[in-house]
Amino acid sequence: MYGMIHRGIRSMVQDKLGEDAWFALEQKIGIGPTELLTGMVYDDTMTIAIISEAAARLNLTTSESLFEFGRYWIEYASRGSLASAMDLTGHDLVSFISNLDRLHLSVGMAMPGSRLPNFNVVLSEPGFLKVEYHSQRTGLENFVSGLFYGLIERFGLIGEVAIADSATCNAVFEIRYKDGHA
Ligand code: HEM
Repeated sequence: MYGMIHRGIRSMVQDKLGEDAWFALEQKIGIGPTELLTGMVYDDTMTIAIISEAAARLNLTTSESLFEFGRYWIEYASRGSLASAMDLTGHDLVSFISNLDRLHLSVGMAMPGSRLPNFNVVLSEPGFLKVEYHSQRTGLENFVSGLFYGLIERFGLIGEVAIADSATCNAVFEIRYKDGHA
C-alpha cells in the first residue's frame, strides 16, 4: 500500500506507545524512513508486516490491530492535510459513507497504482445502515469495521459495526447507531 498508510500506522504506534516503540518496530522488521514515503507504493506484505508487529507491541491480535488502525485512521485523517478532504465528504454518517468512493476518487487521481476500495450503501433506515465493500484485496474486513466505528465516533454517535457477510474481496457490513447525546 501507499506509504501514506504506513505513516498512519507509525503515528498510531507513536501515539499509543511512544517514539522508542516505533524505532524498535522498525529494527525488528528491518524497515526505516524509506518505507514511509507518502507517495511510494509498497507491497501489501510490508503493510501487513508493520500491522502485525504493531499488534504484537500493542498486545493485540492482528485482527484487533487492523480494527484499531481503522478507528485511528479516521482521527488521523481528521487532522492535518487530509482534514479538508474528510470535511468535504459529508457532515453526517450516511452522507459520508455514501460519498466514500468520491473521496477515494479524488485522492486516487494523484496516486497512480493505488487500488482503492468501493463502498455501496444498499440499505439506509433510521439508525441502521447496510454497506457493501468491494476490494481487490482480502483480509481487511476488520480494518473496514474499525473505519466505520471511527466514523460513528467522528459524528458523535454511539453504535456498533457487524460483518454480516464476507466472501473473497467482498463483504457486507451492518452499522447500528444512535445519537450519542440522547
Ligand atoms: C482523507 C481520507 C482518506 C485518504 C487520503 C485515503 C487514502 C487511501 C489510500 C492511499 C489507500 C491505499 C491504496 C493503495 O495503496 O492501493 C486507502 C485504502 C483504503 N481506504 Fe482510504 N483514504 C481515506 C479515507 C478512508 C475512509 C474514511 C475509509 C472508510 C471508511 C477508507 C477505506 C479504505 C480501505 C478499506 C482501504 C484498503 C484498500 C482495500 O480495501 O483494498 N479510506 N485509502
